[in-house]
Amino acid sequence: MAKLIFPEDFMWGASASSYQSEGAWNEDGKGESIWDRFCRTPGNIENGDTGDVACDFYHRYAEDAKIMGELGLHTQRISISWPRIIPDGDGKFNQKGLDFYRRVVDSMLENGVAPFIMLYHWDLPQKLQERGGWLNRDTSDRLAELAERVFSAFPKEVPYWGTILEPQIISYHGFWDGKHAPGIRDFSSALLAAHNLLLAHGKMVRAFRASGSSGQIGITNYLPHHYAISADPEDVKACRRWDGCWNRWFLDAVYKGCYPSDMQDWYKNHGVVLPDIAPGDMELISTPTDFFGLNYYYSYFIGAGDDRWPLMVKSIKPTNLQYTAMNWPICPDGFYDTVMRCWKDYGKPIIVTENGAAFDDEVIRNELVRDEKRIRYLESHLSALHRAISDGADVRGYMVWSSFDNFEWALGYKKRFGLVYVDYKDQRRIMKDSGKWYADVIRRNGLEKDWRLMEGIWSKSL
Ligand code: FCB
Repeated sequence: MAKLIFPEDFMWGASASSYQSEGAWNEDGKGESIWDRFCRTPGNIENGDTGDVACDFYHRYAEDAKIMGELGLHTQRISISWPRIIPDGDGKFNQKGLDFYRRVVDSMLENGVAPFIMLYHWDLPQKLQERGGWLNRDTSDRLAELAERVFSAFPKEVPYWGTILEPQIISYHGFWDGKHAPGIRDFSSALLAAHNLLLAHGKMVRAFRASGSSGQIGITNYLPHHYAISADPEDVKACRRWDGCWNRWFLDAVYKGCYPSDMQDWYKNHGVVLPDIAPGDMELISTPTDFFGLNYYYSYFIGAGDDRWPLMVKSIKPTNLQYTAMNWPICPDGFYDTVMRCWKDYGKPIIVTENGAAFDDEVIRNELVRDEKRIRYLESHLSALHRAISDGADVRGYMVWSSFDNFEWALGYKKRFGLVYVDYKDQRRIMKDSGKWYADVIRRNGLEKDWRLMEGIWSKSL
C-alpha cells in the first residue's frame, strides 16, 4: 500500500492555549480575564466548570515540555494570557507573568520543541471589557502594546508567531449567539468586534516588523468548508452567504484589503449596522503576513431557510456521515476542499494551525487510552492534506488540536481533544494511543497508508 510522505522540512506540531490549560488564574499578579468572569456566571459553562486549575500547566510546564519532546513535536503552540503580563490590559506591567513564558519557552527549547506563540487566544483582561472590550477600537492599540512587550522579550527564540486566533469565533460566539465571553447577542456588534480584532491583527504585524524580531507571523482563521445542500439556486446563494459571513469576510479583509461587497449589500438590506471604516483601516488589516493559519474541524451543509438572522439559512446534519463527541460531522474531503480553496483564492503558504477531534476517551488499567477513533480521524485528515499538497497547495505544517486534554470553553472538561490524557483529579498525564501513533507519523514524516484505500472507515465522499 502506498506510503504518504510529506515534503522535506514539513513542520509537525500541536496546539494549546493559555486559558484552556494554564490554570493559576489569580497567581503571581495575574489580572482577571473575561473568561474568568464568564465562567463564574451560572449557566454559561457545562457542569459549572472553570479554567481556574485546568491542566495546571502554569506549574507543570516543565514536565509537559518533556512530553512534547517525547511526542517528537517540531513545534507546540502556546498562547499568551494578556492579564498575566498586563493585569488591567493597560498600564501596570507584571514581570512575573512574562517570566513564566520565559520558563515555558526555555523548557520547550530544551526538549527540542520550537515555540509557536499565539498572542491572543480569547482571554481579554476584564478591565478592558469594562471599557467596551472589542467594541472599543482602543483595545486594538492595547493589544499591539502587549505584543510589542512580548516581541522584545523573545527577539530570536520564537520562529512562529500568531496574532489573533479565530476572529470569527471571537466575534460570532462572543457577540452574535453569546455562547462565549463576553456573552453579547447582537449581529452589528459582532461585525464591529471583528473589525477591531482585525485592526489589532494589522497593528501587531506592523509592530512585529518594526521590532526586528526573527521568525514568521500570521493570523489563524476558523475555516470549515461550506457545501450547499442542493443545486437549487436559493440553496447555493444561501451557502455563499454563510461562507461570506464566516470565511470571506475575514479572508478578503486580511488578504485582499476589502470586505466582500455582496455581504456588505446583504447586511445593509437587512438593517445591520456596518462598522465605521477609518481611512487606512483596510491597508492596516491587509498588512502582508508570512503564512496563512488554517483551523479545520468539520464542514457545514447549508441551504436557504429562516435561521441565523440576518443570513436566513438552514444548516443540516447529513445522516451518512459519522460524528465526533462534539457532534461535529467527520468530513476529511471538506478539509481537502477548504485547503485547496484557500490556496487558490488567497495564494499564501498555509500552516494548518488546528485539526483534531473529541471522543469519549477512557483509561484502561490505569495506563492505556485506546483512542482508535481519533487515530482514524487524524489519519483521514492527513491523507486529505497530503492529496491537497500533491495537487499543488503550498502547505508548510500541520498541528493537532490538542497536545493535552484541556478546558473546552462552554463545554468544560468533558470534551477531550488531547493526544495526551489528563486526569483532572490528580493531574496525571497518560499518553493516548493517538499520541504514540502521531509520534510515529512525525518520525516517518508521513503515513503508512492512504485512508481512502482502507476498509470500514467513515464515509469517503460527500
Ligand atoms: C477551536 C479553538 C480551540 C478549541 C478547538 C476545539 O475553535 O481554537 O481553542 O476549543 O476549537
